[in-house]
Amino acid sequence: MNGRLIVVGIVVILVAVVGFLLLGGSDDEVFDEPNIIEVEEIENVLEDVGESVEIFVDIVDFAFSSEVLNINVGDTVTWTNGDSAKHTVTSDSGGELDSVLLAKGESYSHTFNEVGTFNYHCTPHPYMTGVIVVS
Ligand code: CO
Repeated sequence: MNGRLIVVGIVVILVAVVGFLLLGGSDDEVFDEPNIIEVEEIENVLEDVGESVEIFVDIVDFAFSSEVLNINVGDTVTWTNGDSAKHTVTSDSGGELDSVLLAKGESYSHTFNEVGTFNYHCTPHPYMTGVIVVS
């Protein structure tokens, strides 16, 4: 009697495991098409709308997610540090960009009110560079 119950139990568990594998097997497909909006698409939208907007740049793996970013006068750029290491957003010359050391999760925002090309870097890691082109 106990032996039969054990066999029945094992069969139930096997059916449950196989069913779980069959039903759950398609989960990976969700990650095949990340929902990422390209920066260029955002820029095109900005030109069409003609309004000042905020553009987000992530700092990840010791790099700025947009090395070259084309924006319009009046636009605001917000950098957010996703690294455990602290980073800055600092103009190569002049004082247009001058953030403090940003810890993980912290942000720095700047509104560009003049046309120009603004090169910047991270003070602790000078090889981290980016450019904002304002037109
Ligand atoms: Co850095």
